[in-house]
Amino acid sequence: MNDIIELKNIVKSFEGNDVCKGLNLTVEKGEILALIGGSGSGKTVILRHMIGLHKPDSGKVLFEGKDITDYDENELIAVRTKIAYLFQNGALFDSLSVFENVAYPLREHTKLPEEEIQKRVLEELKHLKIEGTEDLYPSDLSGGMQRRVAFARAIILKPDVILFDEPTTGLDPFNIHNVVESIRDLNRERGITCVVVTHDMQSMMKLADRIAMLHKGVIRTVGPTEEVRALKDPVVESFITGIEAKVNTND
Ligand SMILES: Nc1ncnc2c1ncn2[C@@H]1O[C@H](COP(=O)(O)OP(=O)(O)OP(=O)(O)O)[C@@H](O)[C@H]1O
Ligand SMILES: [Mg+2]
Repeated sequence: MNDIIELKNIVKSFEGNDVCKGLNLTVEKGEILALIGGSGSGKTVILRHMIGLHKPDSGKVLFEGKDITDYDENELIAVRTKIAYLFQNGALFDSLSVFENVAYPLREHTKLPEEEIQKRVLEELKHLKIEGTEDLYPSDLSGGMQRRVAFARAIILKPDVILFDEPTTGLDPFNIHNVVESIRDLNRERGITCVVVTHDMQSMMKLADRIAMLHKGVIRTVGPTEEVRALKDPVVESFITGIEAKVNTND
């Protein structure tokens, strides 16, 4: 079986706002899947379903073939050590040093000795080319470096899947390039399955194996990047060519 995450017929509303209307989406093991769609179309809501931060009104969420839809918080801990979630806007703990930010999941989810924690954190910082920052605080760092600390924190538990919510938003071209390269490395070198929510089509065209487009509560199209790019569907075309303002999720 090649599917690692499956969303089956997900229906989700918030106080009469129907965000998912019978949505189906499969993430394949080892791929980079880009999830695109207009602002407010439900991209973040979908990611949150994948790790049980939202429960569907109906439908099912499967991880590695297991139905996790009704898992309680305790059962979800195991899932969340395997699926990391990089929040929109990074969200580091301002009052913790870089070291403690990255060590946090290890302290929460493992009983590793302090030496091993030290080793793992410093290795990860080095790997992401931010060695030497461990005693600094998030406010001491540039946006690009903060993003890399958030990356380090997301991968420190060696997850099988990482969900990235707008990882390049607000970064300059240099840092966008770095983030794209880092995601590619995680995927190619460590075999981590990546789901990337993004508005940054240029980066996605370079990075994604497949693209899924969310529109009006369902996946409008999903397929290999080149095929989606060549698709003759005005909604998809206008989005991909960058006139996403015209794609109104409510029209
Ligand atoms: N916890 C919540 N309570 C109520 N409404 C919510 C909640 N979370 C999301 N929504 C609504 O669901 C819809 C989809 O939101 P979501 O954040 O998933 O959009 P998005 O595609 O990620 O947008 P963006 O590109 O701006 O991040 C929006 O209308 C939003 O207001
Ligand atoms: Mg969002």
